[in-house]
Amino acid sequence: MIKKIGILTSGGDSPGMNSIIKNIVYFSKKNNIKTYGIINGYKGLYYNNIIKKKKKNINNIIDKGGTFLGCSRFEKLKKKNIRLKIINNIKNIIDLLIVIGGEGSYKGAYKLNKMNLPCITIPATIDNDISGTDYTIGFYTALETIVNCIDNLKYTLISHNRILILEVMGRKCKDLALNSSICNDNLYLITKKKINEYKLFKFIKKNIYYNKYIIILVMENLINIKKYSKKIEKITNIETRFTSLGYLQRGSKPSAFDRILAFKMSKFAVKNLIKKNITGKCIGIKKNKIIQYDLKKK
Ligand code: F6P
Repeated sequence: MIKKIGILTSGGDSPGMNSIIKNIVYFSKKNNIKTYGIINGYKGLYYNNIIKKKKKNINNIIDKGGTFLGCSRFEKLKKKNIRLKIINNIKNIIDLLIVIGGEGSYKGAYKLNKMNLPCITIPATIDNDISGTDYTIGFYTALETIVNCIDNLKYTLISHNRILILEVMGRKCKDLALNSSICNDNLYLITKKKINEYKLFKFIKKNIYYNKYIIILVMENLINIKKYSKKIEKITNIETRFTSLGYLQRGSKPSAFDRILAFKMSKFAVKNLIKKNITGKCIGIKKNKIIQYDLKKK
Protein backbone atom coordinates (compact mmCIF):
# COMPACT_ATOMS: atom_id res chain seq x y z
CA MET A 1 0.00 0.00 0.00
CA ILE A 2 1.27 3.47 -0.84
CA LYS A 3 0.90 5.54 2.31
CA LYS A 4 3.83 7.99 2.10
CA ILE A 5 4.88 9.93 -0.96
CA GLY A 6 7.73 12.31 -1.74
CA ILE A 7 7.21 15.24 -4.11
CA LEU A 8 9.97 16.92 -6.03
CA THR A 9 10.16 19.56 -8.73
CA SER A 10 13.08 19.26 -11.09
CA GLY A 11 14.89 20.88 -14.03
CA GLY A 12 13.88 24.40 -15.02
CA ASP A 13 10.96 25.75 -12.98
CA SER A 14 7.67 26.06 -14.77
CA PRO A 15 4.52 28.07 -14.01
CA GLY A 16 2.06 25.68 -12.39
CA MET A 17 4.55 23.58 -10.43
CA ASN A 18 3.19 25.10 -7.22
CA SER A 19 -0.37 24.34 -8.33
CA ILE A 20 0.60 20.67 -8.76
CA ILE A 21 2.24 20.51 -5.30
CA LYS A 22 -0.84 22.06 -3.70
CA ASN A 23 -3.21 19.64 -5.40
CA ILE A 24 -1.12 16.53 -4.77
CA VAL A 25 -0.92 17.40 -1.07
CA TYR A 26 -4.64 18.18 -0.97
CA PHE A 27 -5.80 14.96 -2.65
CA SER A 28 -3.27 12.85 -0.73
CA LYS A 29 -4.48 14.20 2.59
CA LYS A 30 -8.06 13.39 1.60
CA ASN A 31 -6.95 9.80 1.10
CA ASN A 32 -4.85 9.51 4.26
CA ILE A 33 -1.58 9.56 2.34
CA LYS A 34 1.33 11.43 3.90
CA THR A 35 3.36 13.82 1.75
CA TYR A 36 6.98 14.85 2.03
CA GLY A 37 8.43 17.78 0.10
CA ILE A 38 11.92 17.44 -1.31
CA ILE A 39 13.93 20.64 -1.49
CA ASN A 40 15.75 21.46 -4.76
CA GLY A 41 14.81 18.38 -6.78
CA TYR A 42 17.10 15.36 -7.12
CA LYS A 43 19.92 17.30 -5.48
CA GLY A 44 17.80 17.56 -2.33
CA LEU A 45 17.20 13.83 -2.39
CA TYR A 46 20.93 13.25 -2.56
CA TYR A 47 21.67 15.62 0.33
CA ASN A 48 18.72 14.35 2.36
CA ASN A 49 16.92 17.65 2.19
CA ILE A 50 13.41 16.42 2.86
CA ILE A 51 10.55 18.21 4.60
CA LYS A 52 7.25 16.96 5.87
CA LYS A 53 4.60 19.24 4.55
CA LYS A 54 2.31 20.95 7.00
CA LYS A 55 -1.00 22.36 5.86
CA LYS A 56 0.04 25.98 6.27
CA ASN A 57 2.93 25.50 3.88
CA ILE A 58 0.70 24.93 0.89
CA ASN A 59 -1.70 27.80 1.50
CA ASN A 60 -1.50 30.54 -1.08
CA ILE A 61 0.95 28.87 -3.43
CA ILE A 62 -1.48 27.74 -6.16
CA ASP A 63 -1.20 31.04 -8.03
CA LYS A 64 2.55 31.57 -7.67
CA GLY A 65 5.18 31.24 -10.38
CA GLY A 66 8.30 29.15 -9.85
CA THR A 67 8.33 26.32 -7.32
CA PHE A 68 8.37 26.83 -3.59
CA LEU A 69 10.14 23.48 -3.16
CA GLY A 70 12.97 24.75 -5.33
CA CYS A 71 14.48 22.83 -8.23
CA SER A 72 17.88 22.15 -9.72
CA ARG A 73 19.73 20.53 -12.56
CA PHE A 74 21.58 17.60 -11.01
CA GLU A 75 23.88 16.07 -13.63
CA LYS A 76 25.32 13.62 -11.07
CA LEU A 77 22.06 11.68 -11.17
CA LYS A 78 23.40 9.98 -14.31
CA LYS A 79 25.83 8.06 -12.08
CA LYS A 80 24.62 4.78 -10.63
CA ASN A 81 26.35 5.21 -7.24
CA ILE A 82 24.62 8.60 -6.78
CA ARG A 83 21.26 7.03 -7.53
CA LEU A 84 21.99 4.24 -5.07
CA LYS A 85 22.69 6.79 -2.34
CA ILE A 86 19.46 8.58 -3.17
CA ILE A 87 17.50 5.36 -2.92
CA ASN A 88 19.15 4.55 0.40
CA ASN A 89 18.31 8.00 1.74
CA ILE A 90 14.65 7.76 0.86
CA LYS A 91 13.59 4.11 0.80
CA ASN A 92 12.53 3.97 4.46
CA ILE A 93 10.77 7.31 4.34
CA ILE A 94 8.52 7.11 1.26
CA ASP A 95 6.73 4.44 -0.78
CA LEU A 96 6.60 6.50 -3.96
CA LEU A 97 8.31 9.49 -5.54
CA ILE A 98 6.37 12.00 -7.64
CA VAL A 99 8.64 13.78 -10.10
CA ILE A 100 7.32 17.05 -11.50
CA GLY A 101 9.40 18.32 -14.41
CA GLY A 102 10.46 18.03 -18.03
CA GLU A 103 12.39 15.68 -20.29
CA GLY A 104 15.61 15.47 -18.22
CA SER A 105 13.67 14.91 -15.00
CA TYR A 106 11.75 12.08 -16.66
CA LYS A 107 15.00 10.33 -17.56
CA GLY A 108 16.04 10.44 -13.89
CA ALA A 109 12.68 9.09 -12.77
CA TYR A 110 12.91 6.25 -15.30
CA LYS A 111 16.30 5.19 -13.94
CA LEU A 112 15.25 5.40 -10.28
CA ASN A 113 12.06 3.49 -11.01
CA LYS A 114 14.10 0.75 -12.71
CA MET A 115 16.22 0.53 -9.55
CA ASN A 116 13.10 -0.18 -7.51
CA LEU A 117 12.27 3.29 -6.26
CA PRO A 118 8.64 3.52 -7.46
CA CYS A 119 8.07 6.76 -9.39
CA ILE A 120 5.27 8.66 -11.11
CA THR A 121 5.85 11.72 -13.29
CA ILE A 122 3.76 14.83 -13.97
CA PRO A 123 4.79 16.96 -16.99
CA ALA A 124 5.79 20.52 -16.06
CA THR A 125 8.06 22.51 -18.34
CA ILE A 126 7.58 25.56 -20.52
CA ASP A 127 9.25 23.67 -23.40
CA ASN A 128 6.36 21.25 -24.12
CA ASP A 129 8.97 18.67 -25.04
CA ILE A 130 7.52 15.52 -23.50
CA SER A 131 6.26 12.94 -25.93
CA GLY A 132 3.16 11.19 -24.64
CA THR A 133 1.32 14.36 -23.64
CA ASP A 134 -0.19 17.09 -25.81
CA TYR A 135 0.69 19.76 -23.23
CA THR A 136 3.03 20.19 -20.33
CA ILE A 137 2.01 22.36 -17.39
CA GLY A 138 3.51 25.84 -17.84
CA PHE A 139 3.68 25.80 -21.63
CA TYR A 140 0.56 27.88 -22.23
CA THR A 141 1.50 30.38 -19.51
CA ALA A 142 4.92 30.90 -21.08
CA LEU A 143 3.35 31.20 -24.52
CA GLU A 144 0.99 33.89 -23.22
CA THR A 145 3.99 35.77 -21.75
CA ILE A 146 5.83 35.64 -25.08
CA VAL A 147 2.77 36.79 -27.02
CA ASN A 148 2.25 39.72 -24.61
CA CYS A 149 5.91 40.70 -25.02
CA ILE A 150 5.58 40.59 -28.80
CA ASP A 151 2.49 42.82 -28.60
CA ASN A 152 4.53 45.35 -26.60
CA LEU A 153 7.61 45.14 -28.76
CA LYS A 154 5.55 45.79 -31.87
CA TYR A 155 4.77 49.42 -30.95
CA THR A 156 8.31 50.47 -30.26
CA LEU A 157 9.40 48.78 -33.49
CA ILE A 158 6.72 50.54 -35.51
CA SER A 159 7.75 53.88 -34.01
CA HIS A 160 11.31 53.40 -35.22
CA ASN A 161 10.58 51.46 -38.39
CA ARG A 162 12.89 48.70 -37.21
CA ILE A 163 13.58 45.01 -37.56
CA LEU A 164 13.98 42.95 -34.39
CA ILE A 165 15.50 39.52 -33.91
CA LEU A 166 13.71 37.93 -30.98
CA GLU A 167 15.00 34.77 -29.32
CA VAL A 168 12.59 32.55 -27.39
CA MET A 169 13.11 29.51 -25.18
CA GLY A 170 12.04 25.92 -25.80
CA ARG A 171 15.33 24.04 -25.83
CA LYS A 172 15.03 21.71 -28.86
CA CYS A 173 11.25 21.91 -29.08
CA LYS A 174 9.70 24.28 -31.62
CA ASP A 175 6.35 24.67 -29.88
CA LEU A 176 6.91 28.01 -28.10
CA ALA A 177 8.45 29.61 -31.19
CA LEU A 178 5.97 28.14 -33.63
CA ASN A 179 2.87 29.00 -31.64
CA SER A 180 3.96 32.53 -30.76
CA SER A 181 4.84 33.19 -34.41
CA ILE A 182 1.23 32.75 -35.46
CA CYS A 183 -0.13 35.10 -32.79
CA ASN A 184 0.83 38.37 -34.47
CA ASP A 185 1.58 39.84 -37.91
CA ASN A 186 4.93 40.36 -39.56
CA LEU A 187 6.71 37.54 -37.82
CA TYR A 188 9.29 35.49 -39.65
CA LEU A 189 10.07 32.20 -37.91
CA ILE A 190 13.51 30.60 -37.86
CA THR A 191 13.76 27.08 -36.45
CA LYS A 192 16.84 25.81 -38.31
CA LYS A 193 20.51 26.77 -38.10
CA LYS A 194 20.69 26.96 -41.87
CA ILE A 195 18.63 30.02 -42.72
CA ASN A 196 16.95 30.35 -46.10
CA GLU A 197 18.17 33.90 -46.67
CA TYR A 198 16.55 34.25 -50.05
CA LYS A 199 13.15 33.77 -48.39
CA LEU A 200 14.05 35.90 -45.35
CA PHE A 201 15.18 38.94 -47.33
CA LYS A 202 12.26 38.63 -49.70
CA PHE A 203 9.96 38.71 -46.63
CA ILE A 204 11.73 41.77 -45.23
CA LYS A 205 11.57 43.63 -48.54
CA LYS A 206 7.93 42.84 -49.03
CA ASN A 207 6.74 43.75 -45.54
CA ILE A 208 8.92 46.41 -43.92
CA TYR A 209 7.77 49.52 -45.74
CA TYR A 210 4.12 48.69 -45.67
CA ASN A 211 3.90 47.45 -42.08
CA LYS A 212 6.83 49.45 -40.67
CA TYR A 213 8.29 46.65 -38.52
CA ILE A 214 9.38 43.05 -38.67
CA ILE A 215 10.10 40.53 -35.97
CA ILE A 216 12.37 37.63 -36.80
CA LEU A 217 11.57 35.00 -34.20
CA VAL A 218 14.32 32.44 -33.53
CA MET A 219 14.51 29.37 -31.35
CA GLU A 220 17.15 29.64 -28.64
CA ASN A 221 20.75 28.54 -29.24
CA LEU A 222 20.40 28.46 -33.03
CA ILE A 223 22.29 31.56 -34.12
CA ASN A 224 24.26 34.43 -32.64
CA ILE A 225 21.47 37.02 -32.65
CA LYS A 226 23.81 39.97 -32.11
CA LYS A 227 25.98 39.07 -35.10
CA TYR A 228 23.00 38.22 -37.26
CA SER A 229 21.24 41.50 -36.51
CA LYS A 230 24.35 43.36 -37.74
CA LYS A 231 24.33 41.30 -40.93
CA ILE A 232 20.67 42.07 -41.58
CA GLU A 233 21.21 45.76 -40.94
CA LYS A 234 24.16 45.82 -43.34
CA ILE A 235 22.30 44.07 -46.13
CA THR A 236 18.95 45.84 -45.77
CA ASN A 237 20.09 49.22 -44.53
CA ILE A 238 17.25 49.07 -42.00
CA GLU A 239 17.96 49.52 -38.30
CA THR A 240 17.97 46.06 -36.74
CA ARG A 241 18.01 45.23 -33.02
CA PHE A 242 18.01 41.99 -31.07
CA THR A 243 16.42 40.81 -27.81
CA SER A 244 16.33 37.55 -25.96
CA LEU A 245 13.27 37.16 -23.74
CA GLY A 246 15.22 34.80 -21.46
CA TYR A 247 13.93 33.95 -17.99
CA LEU A 248 11.05 36.42 -18.29
CA GLN A 249 9.28 33.61 -20.13
CA ARG A 250 9.51 31.23 -17.19
CA GLY A 251 8.67 33.42 -14.23
CA SER A 252 5.00 34.29 -14.71
CA LYS A 253 2.23 33.14 -12.45
CA PRO A 254 0.34 30.19 -13.93
CA SER A 255 -2.62 30.85 -16.23
CA ALA A 256 -6.05 29.45 -15.43
CA PHE A 257 -5.45 26.76 -18.07
CA ASP A 258 -2.28 25.56 -16.35
CA ARG A 259 -3.87 25.68 -12.87
CA ILE A 260 -6.77 23.58 -14.11
CA LEU A 261 -4.43 21.14 -15.84
CA ALA A 262 -2.44 20.86 -12.60
CA PHE A 263 -5.65 20.15 -10.70
CA LYS A 264 -6.81 17.46 -13.16
CA MET A 265 -3.46 15.70 -13.43
CA SER A 266 -2.85 15.73 -9.66
CA LYS A 267 -6.31 14.37 -8.94
CA PHE A 268 -5.79 11.66 -11.56
CA ALA A 269 -2.41 10.74 -10.07
CA VAL A 270 -3.80 10.23 -6.57
CA LYS A 271 -7.12 8.64 -7.55
CA ASN A 272 -6.13 6.43 -10.47
CA LEU A 273 -2.55 5.53 -9.66
CA ILE A 274 -1.43 6.07 -6.05
CA LYS A 275 -4.62 4.82 -4.45
CA LYS A 276 -4.46 1.74 -6.67
CA ASN A 277 -0.74 1.18 -5.96
CA ILE A 278 0.16 1.69 -9.62
CA THR A 279 3.67 3.06 -10.20
CA GLY A 280 6.14 3.53 -13.06
CA LYS A 281 3.70 5.76 -14.95
CA CYS A 282 3.57 9.21 -16.51
CA ILE A 283 0.49 11.41 -16.50
CA GLY A 284 -0.45 13.25 -19.66
CA ILE A 285 -3.27 14.87 -21.57
CA LYS A 286 -4.34 13.60 -24.99
CA LYS A 287 -7.26 15.00 -26.97
CA ASN A 288 -8.46 16.76 -23.80
CA LYS A 289 -8.47 13.58 -21.72
CA ILE A 290 -6.12 12.92 -18.81
CA ILE A 291 -4.18 9.73 -19.46
CA GLN A 292 -1.48 7.52 -18.00
CA TYR A 293 1.31 5.76 -19.89
CA ASP A 294 4.46 3.82 -19.04
CA LEU A 295 7.54 5.65 -17.83
CA LYS A 296 9.92 4.89 -20.68
CA LYS A 297 13.60 5.31 -21.40
CA LYS A 298 12.92 8.12 -23.90
O1 F6P B 1 13.62 23.71 -19.62
C1 F6P B 1 13.17 25.01 -19.56
C2 F6P B 1 14.21 25.98 -20.01
O2 F6P B 1 13.74 27.26 -19.69
C3 F6P B 1 14.60 25.90 -21.49
O3 F6P B 1 13.69 26.53 -22.32
C4 F6P B 1 15.96 26.56 -21.47
O4 F6P B 1 16.74 26.09 -22.52
C5 F6P B 1 16.53 26.12 -20.15
O5 F6P B 1 15.43 25.79 -19.34
C6 F6P B 1 17.39 27.11 -19.44
O6 F6P B 1 17.94 26.47 -18.35
P1 F6P B 1 18.69 27.14 -17.12
O7 F6P B 1 17.63 27.63 -16.18
O8 F6P B 1 19.46 26.00 -16.52
O9 F6P B 1 19.53 28.24 -17.67
